[in-house]
Order: sequence, then C-alpha cells, then structure tokens
Amino acid sequence: MKFKKTYVFAFWSSLQLSFFVLVLLFISIVFAKLSIPFWGLLTFTLTFFILTFFIIQYRAEKFIFKRIKKIYEEVSLLDVADLKKESITTDIETLSREVIKFAEDKRVEIESLNVRENYRREFLGNISHELKTPLFTVQGYILTLLEGAMEDKDIRSKYLNRANKGVERLIDIVKDLDLISKLESDDLHLEISSFNAVELVQQVFDMLEMKAKKKHIQLCFDKAYEFPIFVLGDINKIEQVFINLIENSIKYGNLNGTTIVNFHYNPDKNTYLITLQDNGEGIKKEHISRVFERFYRVEQSRTRQQGGSGLGLSIVKHIIEAHQQTITLNSEFGKGTSFSFSLEKAK
Ligand SMILES: Nc1ncnc2c1ncn2[C@@H]1O[C@H](COP(=O)(O)OP(=O)(O)O)[C@@H](O)[C@H]1O
Ligand SMILES: [Mg+2]
Repeated sequence: MKFKKTYVFAFWSSLQLSFFVLVLLFISIVFAKLSIPFWGLLTFTLTFFILTFFIIQYRAEKFIFKRIKKIYEEVSLLDVADLKKESITTDIETLSREVIKFAEDKRVEIESLNVRENYRREFLGNISHELKTPLFTVQGYILTLLEGAMEDKDIRSKYLNRANKGVERLIDIVKDLDLISKLESDDLHLEISSFNAVELVQQVFDMLEMKAKKKHIQLCFDKAYEFPIFVLGDINKIEQVFINLIENSIKYGNLNGTTIVNFHYNPDKNTYLITLQDNGEGIKKEHISRVFERFYRVEQSRTRQQGGSGLGLSIVKHIIEAHQQTITLNSEFGKGTSFSFSLEKAK
C-alpha cells in the first residue's frame, strides 16, 4: 500500500508538536515542583500525539483536497461531477503530470484549430475566386444584351447560349462544392453493393462520348472483357470517380488521343486494380503531389480556361478513401497520365 503523503506530513508535525509539549510540560513540572508520575506524562504526550496526528492529517488532506479540486475545476481536466473524493490524489506529482498532459492536449487542440481556421479561410477565398469568373461572364453577356444587343436576333440567341453555359458552369461548381462538403463532413453514406465494373465504365464511356468526339479521343478498354468483373462499392460514388477521371483525361488529353481502362486482379488482397491511362498533356513532377488538393489546378490549365473547379480529383480521392482503398497517380509531362485505384472483388 502506498503511504499517502499527508500521513507522513501529519506524523512528523505531530511528533514535533508532541516533543515541544513534552519539553514545555517538563519545564513547568520542574518550575512548579509538581509531582506527576512518568507514565502520566507519557500517556498525556501519547494522547496528544495521536490527537494532533488525526487533526493535522484530516485538516491537511481537506486543505489540499480543496486546492486540488479547484485546480481540477479550473483546468477542467475531468468532469467535476464524477469526481469521487477517493479518486482525488493529494499527490502533487500526479497532479502536475495531469496538468502537463492537459496543457499538451490543449496545445494540440489549438494547433488543429489553427490549421482548420487557415483551411477555412483558404476555402472561402477559393470558392469566391472560382465563382467569380463564370458569374462575371454571365453578367457580361446579360449587360451587353441589355445595352442593345438584344435587338439583333442572332446575337441575342448566341449570347443567351453563352450566358447559359456560364450558368451551367456555376451549377457544376456548386454541385462539386456540395459533394465535397458532404464528403468532408463525414456524413458520406456508402451504399455498398456488388456491381459489374466493366458495365459501369462502359456507361460512363457512352455518357462522355460526345465530349470525347469533339477532341477525337477514343475511350476504350485494354482488351475485350467478356466476363463481368464484380466489385464491391457504392455504385453511384464509383461512377462519379470514373466520370471525373475520364472527363479529366478528355479535358487534358491531346487531339486524337486515347483513354484506356484496364482491370487487374490482385489475389493477395482480393482486389481489382483499375487503371485509367491517357496519352494527354501529363502533369509536371512539381504538381503531381498536389493535384488531389481541393481547388488545385495546374496553372497552365487554369489559364487555358478549361472549365473545372479543381475539385474533381479531391472528390475522387475522398470517395476512394471512404471505400478504404487508395488511389495513385503516375504521370510524365508531355507523355500522359495514369490513375490507379483498387476495389474489393465481390464474392
Ligand atoms: N488526366 C490528366 N492529365 C493531365 N492533367 C490532369 C489530368 N487529370 C488532372 N489533371 C490536372 O490536375 C488538376 C486537378 O484536376 P481536377 O481536380 O479534376 O480539377 P479540374 O479538372 O477542375 O481542373 C487539373 O487542373 C489538371 O491540371
Ligand atoms: Mg476535373
């Protein structure tokens, strides 16, 4: 059993007091010439010692307890309500350990709050920046129309169409923002099911065929997949992944390029590695590690006025990570880019 510090304190204090009382008594006996037997003196001192011991021990513990409790309350180390009297230690070492731990926890908390605050500020700046461009475009067309271009029938429909394009772009950005805020607030609810990945990719190919045709880009598989490839995942979210990646391969692809999708089974992990390879403009080394960040766009694509919010890849990464899988990127500037991610094979 560990001796409580206050017992030691009380013991020595009472011992000192008893000693002085004994000395005082002795002196008074000598001066007053009283005849008190030795055992009487001893009993008195002993009783005095025991009494003071308990009083001191009780008072000291109460005193320390009160102080410590106050410190506990002030630093709100623990919920004071469930603070049992026994669990409070009068041991200062433990307390200071707790306080140091508390301070460390607070430091970490403040640090993460700072990071979040910076992120929030950056996020707001990025959003307004991304929204401004299409808004001003739309406003420009509307103002021109109002200033008289409305009279010309051809110009009118041309400008209205362009304004509509701008609005569509705004809607795309807002949709991306909506999705990413859901993904980041963790209320992303995955509806896992087994589906045929080959079929899903084919559907996305069909959906993006028009866009690809405009740049004479061919969307295809590395070989004919005769049998379905069943994987586990949230089919709508994975479709979003394919849309974002294939759209990128078209947007940043060269004229007459190709985007090839292949599936590779990994028996060790029981997963399929899905790779999308294009032979487009590629990404310079210095940008590779950053393209998955929100709003990050390679500067040269930004100036080229390719529509896009820079959120596409961060959405992709979130979705894949929500599936407990990873995505990797390989790219050589001027040669092409490939994205690979895995999905669990369905039984
Ligand atoms: N297949 C690709 N080939 C070349 N660059 C790409 C490719 N995919 C993405 N990138 C680069 O990564 C950046 C981020 O992509 P993304 O998050 O989808 O944003 P966005 O498409 O809106 O620009 C793009 O701006 C582009 O520069
Ligand atoms: Mg994109």
